[in-house]
Amino acid sequence: MSIKITLLPGDGIGPEIMESAVRLINLVVDRYNINVSFVNKLIGGASIDKFGIPLTDDTIEACCKADAVLLGAVGGTKWEELEHHIKPEAGLLKVRKSLALYANIRPAKVFPAFLDASSLRADVLKGTDFIVLRELTGGIYFGEPRGYDDKKGWNTMVYSQEEVDRIVRMAFIMAKERQKKVMSVDKANVLECSQFWRSRVKEIHKEFPDIELQNMYVDNAAMQIVRDPLQFDVLVTSNLFGDILSDIAGMITGSLGMLPSASLGDKYALYEPVHGSAPDIAGKNMANPIAMLASVAMMFNHTFQMTQAAKIIEEAIELTLEQGYRTNDIYSDGMTLVSTTDMSETIFKNVEEIFNNHAIGVFTL
Ligand code: IPM
Ligand code: MN
Repeated sequence: MSIKITLLPGDGIGPEIMESAVRLINLVVDRYNINVSFVNKLIGGASIDKFGIPLTDDTIEACCKADAVLLGAVGGTKWEELEHHIKPEAGLLKVRKSLALYANIRPAKVFPAFLDASSLRADVLKGTDFIVLRELTGGIYFGEPRGYDDKKGWNTMVYSQEEVDRIVRMAFIMAKERQKKVMSVDKANVLECSQFWRSRVKEIHKEFPDIELQNMYVDNAAMQIVRDPLQFDVLVTSNLFGDILSDIAGMITGSLGMLPSASLGDKYALYEPVHGSAPDIAGKNMANPIAMLASVAMMFNHTFQMTQAAKIIEEAIELTLEQGYRTNDIYSDGMTLVSTTDMSETIFKNVEEIFNNHAIGVFTL
């Protein structure tokens, strides 16, 4: 077997953590006798600096030709003054739209080693393990008309039946493999768009009678996530609400720097850390590579159905944390402070060890 991966390191700490990702992928595919080829392309500020725009057709084409796309991060103070449509962030929105990546999966899972690092009490947080499934190519992010003039600014929140149905169906399918609970989040007490969303959720639920469905208003959901996160299993919501709630969900785990994400469509898949480009620590070998490495695990799992490889990476990450290694962002007293490269090396060593502990030398798919 051979696989093709397009790499979009992007800006800030993106290139540093991408280096770790490539090392990890090489290490894993060797074990399975798989050939991997990488194509490197620019996105975000790096692309603006070279081509004047945050995403070129050439980069989109390279993404379309790959089995999976890995993204580091985009953005930075350097490009903040630019106009909206040529900012680094516009590159991210365009790649999502161009590849029709309508489903964004952001897990909110608490690592036992981090229970005390959260702003929530450990007894509230313990056992938290849910997924924010965010619609990613529709809603107010992309609705027309949009614009502003001297007197006003405007955007449009709109969802078609097709857009709601496919993301909601995915939520029910994901819940089947989990705790069989879907929470759909909207603002149906105010917005017609949400009323429509809710009516489609009710309709699609008929296809999944064994899954429990609840609806919740988004303001209440924000409150419930910090009050009692254990009540959630699969939380499905629109683009804007998902943007906000996934930050809340990520932060309560005490480790935004550790969370991976997947953006999936019917044809393509892109994996990226939830955190941003952290320009203040870029180039200092300080960044936490874990979210990026966990995104690689998600890639093996979803795109290549290599569940065993994904599990081994996740185990190695947990083991490394249990051994007390911490990058600066997650450091606490008594732990061992390490750099990006040292954290990566330790995780690789643990991956190797876990592989070696299995009876067979070469893994089969
Ligand atoms: C995210 C980010 C992006 C979004 C920005 C950078 C455009 O906040 O991935 O959550 O709003 O979707
Ligand atoms: Mn966001």
